[in-house]
Amino acid sequence: MASLRQKISASKFVLVLSGAGISAESGIPTFRGKEGLWKNHRAEDLASPAAFQRDPKLVWAWYRWRRALIASKKTNAAHEGLVRLEARMPRYQLITQNVDGFHGLAGSRKMIELHGNIWRMRCTSCGEKIENHDPDLPELPRCLKCEALLRPDIVWFGEGINANDLEQSIQSCRACDLMLVIGTSAVVQPAASFASIAKEAGAYLVEINPVPSLSGLSDVTLVGKAAEIVPKIVD
Ligand code: APR
Ligand code: ZN
Repeated sequence: MASLRQKISASKFVLVLSGAGISAESGIPTFRGKEGLWKNHRAEDLASPAAFQRDPKLVWAWYRWRRALIASKKTNAAHEGLVRLEARMPRYQLITQNVDGFHGLAGSRKMIELHGNIWRMRCTSCGEKIENHDPDLPELPRCLKCEALLRPDIVWFGEGINANDLEQSIQSCRACDLMLVIGTSAVVQPAASFASIAKEAGAYLVEINPVPSLSGLSDVTLVGKAAEIVPKIVD
């Protein structure tokens, strides 16, 4: 711990990649954990353009359920610790795969929400984006401008990441000198490749996860829960 803290203090650019595991202790189930099922559907079978085309009511029901769950929970010590880390670093970037908005709620600023945000919706026809926290969304929310169907502004399986977000992420991987990878199973691309891009470019790689996913790649693996470990290394 002491040498890792030193390493962080000596860094000029710390990059953080977070996944569902960082919100686990807030009470949000991870995707590939035991509780990652909703009414027997896997996330992969709901978060896709094909699923939305087949049954938009089902997909929206899942998102309404997730929005209500997230709205009932709070940020945890890991989200909050990263805000203090950001304040101290000369250069800092956070990339999250999470759509719960918790990093922003905690106060993170330099942040890329790679997979979107569950509190934003997008028109399937005119592309209009709307921020919306309404707990009682209709079964099929519609665009106020053109009345077409709205969808969650989330990157689904089979869809591409916003080009600017992707480019900025990869640049950060190449430029950082230390990368913290927190709570991701590292199976969903492109984020799954970020750690190796950073490592190849010479970054010192640290993973925080009770079930590590980057063994062999990381320089240090801290086996445990994000909300316990993050405050220990940043404070
Ligand atoms: N602290 C840290 N990590 C944890 C904790 C915890 N308390 N609890 C679980 N984890 C770890 C798990 O061991 C696992 O490696 O978090 C990871 C969660 O993995 P996934 O459920 O696969 O989530 P993630 O990697 O974020 O998934 C990527 O897949 O479904 C899509 O778009 C969705 O963004 C998501 C993407
Ligand atoms: Zn519209």
